[in-house]
Amino acid sequence: MSQAIDTPTNDASSYHVPVMLEESLAGLNIKPEGTYVDVTFGGGGHSRAIMERLGEGGHLLAFDQDSDAAARVESGEWRVESKARFTFIHENFRHMKAFLRLNGVRHVDGVLADLGVSSHQFDTAGRGFSTRMDGELDMRMDARVEVTARDIVNSQDEETLAQTLKLYGELPNARQMARAIVAARRESEIATTFDLREAVSRHLPRGMENKYLAMLFQALRIEVNGELDALKEMLVQATDMLNEGGRLVVISYHSLEDRLVKNYMKTGNFEGRLEKDFYGNPLVPLRMVSRGAIQASEQELQCNNRSRSAKLRVAERTENRELKK
Ligand SMILES: C[S@@+](CC[C@H](N)C(=O)[O-])C[C@H]1O[C@@H](n2cnc3c(N)ncnc32)[C@H](O)[C@@H]1O
Repeated sequence: MSQAIDTPTNDASSYHVPVMLEESLAGLNIKPEGTYVDVTFGGGGHSRAIMERLGEGGHLLAFDQDSDAAARVESGEWRVESKARFTFIHENFRHMKAFLRLNGVRHVDGVLADLGVSSHQFDTAGRGFSTRMDGELDMRMDARVEVTARDIVNSQDEETLAQTLKLYGELPNARQMARAIVAARRESEIATTFDLREAVSRHLPRGMENKYLAMLFQALRIEVNGELDALKEMLVQATDMLNEGGRLVVISYHSLEDRLVKNYMKTGNFEGRLEKDFYGNPLVPLRMVSRGAIQASEQELQCNNRSRSAKLRVAERTENRELKK
């Protein structure tokens, strides 16, 4: 879907307030005539700001797998005043390269990823992302995908479930939690977020109930959406498509994501293994621009709770021989 946009700007703040907006824009180092990709459109806050910095020859392509995000663009609810071109792609960013090519784009000047769920997704009870609201235990970002969190908690065997909770939630008591879930579902199906809370309630350490629940929900969300695999695929494809000097900007919200991003930006692989050529020069497709992770300012922390756990990393493409062929 492509649209030339010249209508007035509207307000998206109730949908999602963009995290570390200025820092992301600085990281992208936007060239007005460049081609940029926002792989996580969400409420379109970052996209809006990028569009505002692009000139007539500029182009922004935005991905989101969520139909609510897509509907806002399709209905015209999300609009921005800009002469640049805008293309929305309602797909998982793990297919970024294929869909960019389908849109005639073979190389880009910057890619932004603001990972995880949007405030809109999180605050809609029926999506099942929030531990605080009772709703269907769904957790799919893309409703076209078949398997939900409900399917997982009611069907994975205890061992697999324990592994999921340990690996993706880093829950110290993953085994006990998995056992409690399996015991509860023998009584009746776990259908809602509150059913799940109830099932594990005896295994939430006192004073850390919310933390453990958040870890449990995180684990299921990552499993349902295949988040870490999608992230890895996107990082590799984005790097393949970046022009020399092009920027990769990623905001992550938990250590599993951030570790992958950091290792990949530093070494070009997810294990963080630095490889060198015959002369001892590091063989890396990216050069870190920010030394460590950038975190939200005090001011932002005070007005946007979502920014609390955010870590932003920026890297720049070194020479890209593949694009020159
Ligand atoms: C944190 S929000 C992005 C918010 C956005 N930066 C803004 O300013 O409004 C993350 C968005 O990315 C989408 N998303 C997450 N993983 C995705 C994936 N693998 N493919 C496509 N979209 C994804 C989610 O559906 C969600 O809408």
